[in-house]
Amino acid sequence: MADPAIRIDVLTLFPALFDGFLGESILRRAIDKGLVAVRLWNLRDWAEGKHRQVDDRPFGGGPGMVLMAPPVVAAVEAVRGSGEVPGRLIAMTPQGQTLTQDRVRDLAREPRLVLLCGRYEGFDERILEVLGPELLSIGDYVLSGGEVAAMVVIDSVMRLIPGVLGDAESAEDESFGPEGGLEYPHYTRPREYRGRAVPDILLGGDHAAIDRWRRGQSRDRTRARRTDLVIPEADRPGTARSTSHTQNQPHGPHEPPGEPGEPDRAEGMG
Ligand code: 6GU
Repeated sequence: MADPAIRIDVLTLFPALFDGFLGESILRRAIDKGLVAVRLWNLRDWAEGKHRQVDDRPFGGGPGMVLMAPPVVAAVEAVRGSGEVPGRLIAMTPQGQTLTQDRVRDLAREPRLVLLCGRYEGFDERILEVLGPELLSIGDYVLSGGEVAAMVVIDSVMRLIPGVLGDAESAEDESFGPEGGLEYPHYTRPREYRGRAVPDILLGGDHAAIDRWRRGQSRDRTRARRTDLVIPEADRPGTARSTSHTQNQPHGPHEPPGEPGEPDRAEGMG
């Protein structure tokens, strides 16, 4: 089989946390197809002594336990030394840069990622000094370990690897895409539900008009829900300005867009 497009090594004290995640769904399929390789490594396998200790109490006092430098550094060096390239080393910590879709796209271009998961109060500072990893967070809140954050990285990266998503799940038209905003709303059967009809424009088969409507919806909901993502007109890439004036009614999260249409026209699914 051809080499996978990306190899991701995860170092953790709790490799079993990844079993369900790796064993199901799209990621499982990507691994089975050989598009992505994920290897799990137990940090405790590099611990010395009868108790295979990987953590200890902090010098200077304070709560919790700290991951010890010797086993963690040994583990990272051994794992990076295996394989053709050492890979981009990333320590998962709430003190890191925040993951964004731009960063995900950047990570997805790498041949190999090495994700180091901390637990407890964190890493002995010498681990970071000696290994010099990038620090990566998934947001401004605290998790009890880096494992869930590593799963977020794996999931978001692997779905950008060519072939991982089928056409049906395409990563092309989605939130945080090249235009930076939120994705347009979706509808499927039934045509009418609790008095709410699917917007007529989606039933008409005019794909240029549908495109315009969707871009307008994306713009409107980005403005309404995520003002922080709105790119000033002048800085916008391409000609993303929507021209659909008739179809766009700004709406809140509980007020679906689209006016009630004719309830039934036989076309497509139905
Ligand atoms: Cl990467 N680790 C932990 N422990 N907490 C987090 C995080 C990472 N990202 C956000 N919160």
